[in-house]
Amino acid sequence: MIIDELEKIKENILKELADVKDIKSINEIKVRVFGKNGVITNLSKGMRDISPEERPKIGALINEARVLLTDAIEKKEKVLEDEVLALKLATEKVDITQPGKDVKLGALHPINDVIDKLTDICVNMGFSVVEGPEIEYDYYNFEAMNIPKNHPSRDMQDTFFITEDILLRSQTSAVQAREMESRKPPFKIVCPGKTYRNDSDATHSPIFNQMEGLVVDENVSMADLKSMLTILMKRLFGEDTAIRFRPSFFPFTEPSIEVDVSCPNCHGKGCSTCKGSGMLELLGAGIVNPKVLEMSGIDSKKYKGFAFGFGLDRTAMILDGISDIRNLYKNDIRFLDQFK
Ligand code: PHE
Repeated sequence: MIIDELEKIKENILKELADVKDIKSINEIKVRVFGKNGVITNLSKGMRDISPEERPKIGALINEARVLLTDAIEKKEKVLEDEVLALKLATEKVDITQPGKDVKLGALHPINDVIDKLTDICVNMGFSVVEGPEIEYDYYNFEAMNIPKNHPSRDMQDTFFITEDILLRSQTSAVQAREMESRKPPFKIVCPGKTYRNDSDATHSPIFNQMEGLVVDENVSMADLKSMLTILMKRLFGEDTAIRFRPSFFPFTEPSIEVDVSCPNCHGKGCSTCKGSGMLELLGAGIVNPKVLEMSGIDSKKYKGFAFGFGLDRTAMILDGISDIRNLYKNDIRFLDQFK
């Protein structure tokens, strides 16, 4: 009985397999044969009712059928899978002669480019790069820089106050005050970063960038400052750059100077970049006022310092020939794309 049944199952399934055209039907067959209620599964369950003498023989036959059918199903599966793959390969050909998709490459913003160039030069000269908060205490921005409350020199910088004591830093000098407080001389630092003043036209933006440098050591002189700035400017604008130093005033330096460089666009002849003068005003600098050192806890009898600070926007505008500072803050891709 069981033997006949087995033969019939084998015959039917093999016949069915021969006609099967897709993997889904194979899965259905698998369930019908080996599933919980599958025909082979049920036959195995039926072994209980078979006499002990016959059991080994029938068991072996069921096993044989199981192996045979499993094998046949696997083979058919493989054939169908190969067919699917072959069809895929035939229809999904990749045309390697097609041009690739356009990848849009970004570029450094002119300001970041200048920061990279300047900090590279300064790091080569032994400076460390430091940063500080943009929302700053009045104390670090002004008082520690020898600009007391209500002092007229505050008018040099039209400042955005948040409260009476907190402001948007108007100069990166604030970072120097913080660093002088926490460092032990000798040290050489530069601090690039965003600064804010209430000013807006083609050459002034309420948000702009400065980089300030500070050297504190035992024997620091105006000669060191001048030679360092000369090297810095020549490395940035080119070896043939001429440098001019003029006396000036800043509350935090004494004596103070302003530094001009020959226009890299016309090499001093006069053009629209330098408004015909051949020179460009670029930096404020000087020997750190001993009062400023003392306020930050540095012994001004033992140590001296020099400091310099300049606008990075102006520097980027000169280097990249940009005429309106506001373009630097509009995030207009058409403008920025030029600097790739
Ligand atoms: N902090 C000054 C300014 O923003 C520039 C400066 C820095 C001058 C360091 C002298 C020394 O105007």
